[in-house]
Amino acid sequence: MITINFAKKEQIKLISEFEINEFNSEAYSFDMLNDMMKDNYLLKDNDNIFVLLDDEDLIGYIIFHISKDFTDIFKIFIRDNDKRKGYATMLLNKVIDLAKRYNSHKLMVEVRAKNLNAINFYKKNNFEQISIRDKYYKNPTDDALIFERSL
Ligand SMILES: CC(C)(COP(=O)(O)OP(=O)(O)OC[C@H]1O[C@@H](n2cnc3c(N)ncnc32)[C@H](O)[C@@H]1OP(=O)(O)O)[C@@H](O)C(=O)NCCC(=O)NCCS
Repeated sequence: MITINFAKKEQIKLISEFEINEFNSEAYSFDMLNDMMKDNYLLKDNDNIFVLLDDEDLIGYIIFHISKDFTDIFKIFIRDNDKRKGYATMLLNKVIDLAKRYNSHKLMVEVRAKNLNAINFYKKNNFEQISIRDKYYKNPTDDALIFERSL
């Protein structure tokens, strides 16, 4: 059964492994993820990572930060075998529900210009590109596209 919950401390190690495999120089390390879970002033301690589970199996996650004005999506990830099943959309919708409860009225995300899968995903979910940061990413060098969506 598919469920979405706040990440637990014991899931952070696996998330950090997915991060390193997928995001290279932008990966969140184990320590960064642990710190992050203490960071969100609006929510309880570990309330800024949702994990999507198939029974006990961790299939994907979304890392975000809600503030009163806007909500940042830092990362969204779904394991290879489980892509294109609507799981990332489910995670995003879970964040949207929570953001609305905190009167956050805008979602923002930054994406590598070469990450066409993610760009298509955000466009499909009604995000619009609002700006571009030239050569923002390193290893490899890439522009950052900033996408926004009203809630
Ligand atoms: C981007 C990502 C999170 C999408 O996850 P997903 O669970 O496959 O996405 P969904 O199934 O919810 O897709 C919803 C829609 O987004 C679009 N989309 C998603 N992946 C796509 C792809 N590879 N190519 C084209 N469109 C895509 C489609 O319109 C899709 O709807 P459809 O399947 O009915 O055509 C996933 O590909 C991923 O983990 N990528 C690696 C990590 C990453 O780059 N994250 C984003 C940067 S933070």
